Amino acid sequence: MMQASWRDSVVAYIRAEARPADKFGHQPRLYALATKIGQGMDYDDDVLFAAAWMHDLGVFLGHRPRDPAELAAWDHVPYTIEKSRELLKRWGFPEGKLDRVAEAIQYHRAKDDPKTLEGVLLRDADILEQLGAVGAMRMIVKVGRDTRYPTFSSILPVLSDAADHLPGEMRLTSAISMSVPRVEVLRSWLRYVKRRATDSARVISLFPGAEPVGCRASVCRICKYLPS
Ligand SMILES: [Fe+2]
Repeated sequence: MMQASWRDSVVAYIRAEARPADKFGHQPRLYALATKIGQGMDYDDDVLFAAAWMHDLGVFLGHRPRDPAELAAWDHVPYTIEKSRELLKRWGFPEGKLDRVAEAIQYHRAKDDPKTLEGVLLRDADILEQLGAVGAMRMIVKVGRDTRYPTFSSILPVLSDAADHLPGEMRLTSAISMSVPRVEVLRSWLRYVKRRATDSARVISLFPGAEPVGCRASVCRICKYLPS
């Protein structure tokens, strides 16, 4: 019987561990985006694959702290690197490449300054994942379950800021051009939401005491009056 490759082990592990369930999907998209950005470039595909699939391990339920105070101060990257090293080694990943995987994971966030090509590809791809329809969806699912985002209104400034500033943080021309349609989609989605919010604010003003825009009441007294 043929033995499963380390890549199969990575995918099976992340598929099982990605919780909440919607956390799975970012990894294959990210790897596909990173390889698209890196087309024709001389990157190490083993490093890119491992880093793209493992880079957010420490944000999954069961891997991050349960205590809200600890969670608020949690930096998932050191945990993710340590655990990824251990697991990849066990699954037969080429040991000589582990440091490069660690480095790509270490510097994958927009605030970071990666020095390796795999790190730059991963970071640019991760920025793209915060834009467009996918970026909006990834934020929407956090509403109500992430204490930073109690209402729909609370994610709007974050997405607006992403559309305004993240493309300027990207390094590679191929990634920057891929960001253009995503920024357009995100901006038009934000415009539509804001327009509807203005409509509902107008309706709310007719009903003193009604819930504000972005209310999370299970039965809102005014929603039936909102324009469709
Ligand atoms: Fe990510």
